[in-house]
Amino acid sequence: MNVTEAIRSRRSIRRYLPEQVPDEVVMRLLEAACWAPSAHNRQPWRFAVITAAVVKEQLARAMGARLRADLERDDAPSQAIERDVSRSFARITGAPVLVLACLTLSDMDTYADAKRARAEWVMAAQSVAMAVQNLLLATQAEGLGACWMCAPLFCPETVRAVLDLPEDWEPQALITLGYPAEPPKDKGREPLTSRVIFYR
Ligand SMILES: Cc1cc2nc3c(=O)[nH]c(=O)nc-3n(C[C@H](O)[C@H](O)[C@H](O)COP(=O)(O)O)c2cc1C
Repeated sequence: MNVTEAIRSRRSIRRYLPEQVPDEVVMRLLEAACWAPSAHNRQPWRFAVITAAVVKEQLARAMGARLRADLERDDAPSQAIERDVSRSFARITGAPVLVLACLTLSDMDTYADAKRARAEWVMAAQSVAMAVQNLLLATQAEGLGACWMCAPLFCPETVRAVLDLPEDWEPQALITLGYPAEPPKDKGREPLTSRVIFYR
């Protein structure tokens, strides 16, 4: 599959067959992720790969508790809370592989002023997103499916505590992946003209 085909055929896949993903395939995906461009080539991405059922479950429970607390604070109807919490649990525990993409500032430049420090953080976040996009495209090329879950952004301390992550790892996204158990949904895209301005 060439890169254009991978880009055009990739869709988020949220349900997976129970089949395990061989370690060498996971390593190829991570290798592709790490070939992404990054600010100053500092490679500020870090990945935690979770395949152990017990760890998935701990993570899903802890994140679910945080989701429940947030929704209760929002005064969401209890039925909607139960639906969202159980959907999140099923998504996290039902994926053969979880890849937690994290950001570290440990090798990034440091600045005394908040404006440039913020720009440096954004560059690190952009670099991590590029790595994840590589991983998603490589996943597609390997015949696997994947989906980006933003949930760790809402409970980074919970995720860090469950996985005992290094202090400087900032959880950014949880990528679920495995062999697809659902057909891709055609989400479509808005017309190019609504997203681009040309200065010719
Ligand atoms: C930053 C980001 C956050 C996302 N968060 C979630 C999420 O929490 N749950 C989810 O099901 N999909 C999530 N997605 C997947 C998007 O919903 C999906 O990419 C979008 O609807 C387009 O569909 P496609 O990926 O199939 O083309 C996220 C994607 C990105 C890039």
